[in-house]
Amino acid sequence: MIELSDVSASYGNVPAINGVTINVGEGEAVGLLGANGAGKSTTLRAISGLVKLTSGAITFLGVDLASLPPHKITELGIAHVPEGRQVFPEMTVNENLEIGSYAPRAKADRASSLDLVYSIFPRLAERRKQLAGTMSGGEQQMLAVGRGLMLKPRLLMLDEPSLGLAPVMCDVTFEKVAEIHKMGTAILLVEQNVSRALTLVQRAYVLESGKVILDGTTAQLAGNKQVQAAYLGI
Ligand SMILES: Nc1ncnc2c1ncn2[C@@H]1O[C@H](COP(=O)(O)OP(=O)(O)O)[C@@H](O)[C@H]1O
Ligand SMILES: [Mg+2]
Repeated sequence: MIELSDVSASYGNVPAINGVTINVGEGEAVGLLGANGAGKSTTLRAISGLVKLTSGAITFLGVDLASLPPHKITELGIAHVPEGRQVFPEMTVNENLEIGSYAPRAKADRASSLDLVYSIFPRLAERRKQLAGTMSGGEQQMLAVGRGLMLKPRLLMLDEPSLGLAPVMCDVTFEKVAEIHKMGTAILLVEQNVSRALTLVQRAYVLESGKVILDGTTAQLAGNKQVQAAYLGI
């Protein structure tokens, strides 16, 4: 469904990713793993059109994304839940969610999408009038994921959804993402928490210094000595 071929991107003159080739199939859950600074967020930003490619190509359902502005990429059904959640703190839960369905593809179905998000996240339903900035980190993460769902995404990209969460909230977040995946949404999951990520995805890529150094099924990666030593503490 989405294919990155030999994608490179940089910030100014500093290269951030260098020749990344990855793909996610229809309805698949794929991980993008690696240490801090490996280029995971930049890869998602390249897909979303937030950083320009210096070389390579990205296609989504056969459409070339390289020349499209971010809002057109969103319109194709790619939702990006960014690192650090980035909810609007001065707006209510409900208002934050409504913003997620701003794109034409989602607007007409706003009411049914809200029902869906509130059924997946009852905690958000209880707090729909609360200002987002007054909620806990875990609740804000649910809100950020919920806002992504409001787009009715074909592909949901999550950037370190468990970062900074207490273990219990981390578990809840992974359960919810699994539930969303079961509904048929393709997932591209960025995580530093490799052991947890491998419980959710079917396949993953490991990035290091802007390059894919390993890829394979969950079982292959979990059994790989290099992955065990570097990421699983085995
Ligand atoms: N806004 C930015 N300006 C300059 N360099 C950046 C910026 N964001 C990330 N980088 C650099 O790009 C590289 C990849 O970063 P990033 O994609 O954020 O990694 P990850 O998400 O895997 O931690 C790192 O060397 C990082 O320092
Ligand atoms: Mg990152």
